[in-house]
Amino acid sequence: MYRIVTKERLNPVIDYMEVEAPAVARKAQPGQFVVIRVDEVGERIPLTLADWDSKDGTITLVAMQVGTSTHKLASLNAGDKLLNLVGPLGLASDIERFGTVVCVAGGVGAAPVFPIARALRQMGNRIISILGARSKDLLFWEERLQSVSDELIVTTDDGSYARKGVVTEPLKEMLERSERIDRVIAIGPAIMMKFCSLTTKPFGVPTFVSLNSIMVDGTGMCGCCRVSVGNVTKFACVDGPDFDGHEVDWDLLFKRQQTYLDEEKRSLELWKSCHCRNA
Ligand SMILES: Cc1cc2nc3c(=O)[nH]c(=O)nc-3n(C[C@H](O)[C@H](O)[C@H](O)COP(=O)(O)OP(=O)(O)OC[C@H]3O[C@@H](n4cnc5c(N)ncnc54)[C@H](O)[C@@H]3O)c2cc1C
Ligand code: FES
Repeated sequence: MYRIVTKERLNPVIDYMEVEAPAVARKAQPGQFVVIRVDEVGERIPLTLADWDSKDGTITLVAMQVGTSTHKLASLNAGDKLLNLVGPLGLASDIERFGTVVCVAGGVGAAPVFPIARALRQMGNRIISILGARSKDLLFWEERLQSVSDELIVTTDDGSYARKGVVTEPLKEMLERSERIDRVIAIGPAIMMKFCSLTTKPFGVPTFVSLNSIMVDGTGMCGCCRVSVGNVTKFACVDGPDFDGHEVDWDLLFKRQQTYLDEEKRSLELWKSCHCRNA
């Protein structure tokens, strides 16, 4: 069992948790993830390692409530335990000296971007981060990202905070100004990662995205996380989750992400009705 040491609500739909998992904390690298199961009837869900502390033996998870398992997770508090947790899984992000790297974080993507930006900066890269959310109340970790960036641009779709608009706008402006950009990392909703990749493609700037395909085992055995990159079938859990955004078959990803929409909706309605009755 994996004890939750700290839990905080970062915004109405996103929770922060520090969880005791010493073996994972010892080996964690930026870009990797864990697969957790909240309880005996819970499904396995992948969550990125947003941070870790090998001395304390804890890992940080940041989860957005979208369906049954993430709502269940959000209902736990410090002192509660997760039934299973396996990791670190997936390949670590490429951390090299590239030059100037733009790290684009959309919504909950701020959490996975943070350790990558930090490691890239420690490697001597200049980091420009772009942090975007639909509105001010959904933004989080602005200060954390600032602390690992040479420059930070914040956007909200509705203009309720900082610059109004979506993250691809400042990205495009930078590219059009012919600023030297050696690499772009974009993490967030699949649609945002697709448009970041489309924005950088004409400029030929290598762009890496973290694919959030549906996963089950997370170890390359079930095939559930199948994606197509450069017309080659890959398993996001063992060949990724980071991939060249210019080569991803985005339509296939969107289609596969929607495979169980009806079941997911029914499951959440059922869980909410039971949970609210018992609350
Ligand atoms: C490698 C990886 C790392 C991830 N890291 C994070 C993270 O750090 N924080 C975070 O909030 N989310 C993260 N996700 C997404 C998270 O796993 C899903 O939101 C979660 O599995 C949804 O479970 P649910 O039961 O709450 O919702 P469900 O009812 O299962 O689904 C609700 C919606 O979420 C999407 N979804 C469902 N299952 C998955 C899945 N396994 N992976 C991706 N999308 C899914 C579907 O589009 C669906 O419409 C990550 C996904 C991957 C693949
Ligand atoms: S999650 Fe099963 S193969 Fe990747």
